[in-house]
Amino acid sequence: MKSKAIEILNNNWRNGFTVPSENLYPFQWKWDSGFTAIGLAHFNMGRAKKEISTLLDAQWENGLIPHIIFHTKSDTYFPGADFHCSNLHPKASKKYKSTGMSQPPVTGFVLQELYRISKDKTAILQYIESVIDKVYKNHNYLYENRDPKNEGLVYIYHNWESGTDNSPVWDTIFERMDSPEFKFNRKDTLHVDASQRPSHQEYNHYLQIIEIAKKYAYDDAKIAKHSPFLVQDPLFNTVLIKSNESLIKLYKLIPNSEKKIKQLKNWQNKAINRFNEKLYNQELKAYIYYDLRADKAIKEITSSSFAPIFAKIPSKKQVEELTQNLMQNFASDDYYLCASYNPKSSKFNPKKYWRGPVWVNLNWMLYKGLKEYGYQEIASQIKKDTLEIVQQEGFYEYFDPRKKEYTKPRSKAYGGENFSWTAALVLDLLNEN
Ligand code: DGY
Repeated sequence: MKSKAIEILNNNWRNGFTVPSENLYPFQWKWDSGFTAIGLAHFNMGRAKKEISTLLDAQWENGLIPHIIFHTKSDTYFPGADFHCSNLHPKASKKYKSTGMSQPPVTGFVLQELYRISKDKTAILQYIESVIDKVYKNHNYLYENRDPKNEGLVYIYHNWESGTDNSPVWDTIFERMDSPEFKFNRKDTLHVDASQRPSHQEYNHYLQIIEIAKKYAYDDAKIAKHSPFLVQDPLFNTVLIKSNESLIKLYKLIPNSEKKIKQLKNWQNKAINRFNEKLYNQELKAYIYYDLRADKAIKEITSSSFAPIFAKIPSKKQVEELTQNLMQNFASDDYYLCASYNPKSSKFNPKKYWRGPVWVNLNWMLYKGLKEYGYQEIASQIKKDTLEIVQQEGFYEYFDPRKKEYTKPRSKAYGGENFSWTAALVLDLLNEN
């Protein structure tokens, strides 16, 4: 399994960065890149560093790290650079074409993972010193531009920023939108069966939000005022908080970093308090989403509802409730952990992207978090499930959570094949002592 994972990462390497999956995702994606670097670090630290350096090289002058960096031309993906027009923003990268949005800010905790994995702590710390301020600048950008009410929680303005693109959570937002019928050719459904991907109507909404952002030249203040989609997402904020914590730990190893550590601690305290106050739902016993445009909570349980475990956000009592919820609703004998959407909901779809399937990156985060809290048994189950489905089906993008479906091998894995973060994170799990 290890050698196959390494082979995939070698094949997906493109002279400075890794594509998530050939053809389906032919560019560099922000959170994919971070997870992939963790896998690369186990067998080629030079490439892991290069992966992160290339990503950070595309950072905008205002601190935003874009969600896709279009390093090369490719006609296998839509919407490409010509649709996104990132150059509308005066501070967009002049060197690279990109999208005008971001993705969960994984880079901070990824640097800490590189430090953990590296055998040469002096060399890796030297590298971290050379890039860490860019990550800090990214967090500063998020708190200064994505938190209009100064709550300590940042918003996302597009479902693609969440990483969980077509989660049922976004349905109520799209129902409010009156998006036009765009004329475009889907490319994703040339590579993957349409039943596993977002619908055409959903794409109309996705494109419409971008059109609105483009109308305002990707200006954050105007987006905050006019975007139909404006959400405080538990996963995005969890990842930011986890990365804050990592930056604090790493800056402690770097001289003259007191001011930055102080600022990070301020962000951190405020964020964790507000997160628990605003996003923990006592009735559902799970973290939920907040729709800033409608000014109301979206009370849905997804795998993102448990993600705060990764960043030590829940109290002991909350984590106990969360794990009970997870085991009762997501982990019966019939399901692999962890479905991306509540299997008991009528909108659960075990094949469709973020509407049900198991994703390895969410499993990896839950595994790490549960272990830290001392929930060793559940953590082990997540690890076992992850390795079992990949062993049976291959290094796919996402997997059917229904155990009973696994009678015929290689039919319950969906989306892109030879998927980079699946390979990278499995490698990380296998290398654990
Ligand atoms: C896609 O094209 O589906 C990507 O997830 C967007 O980031």
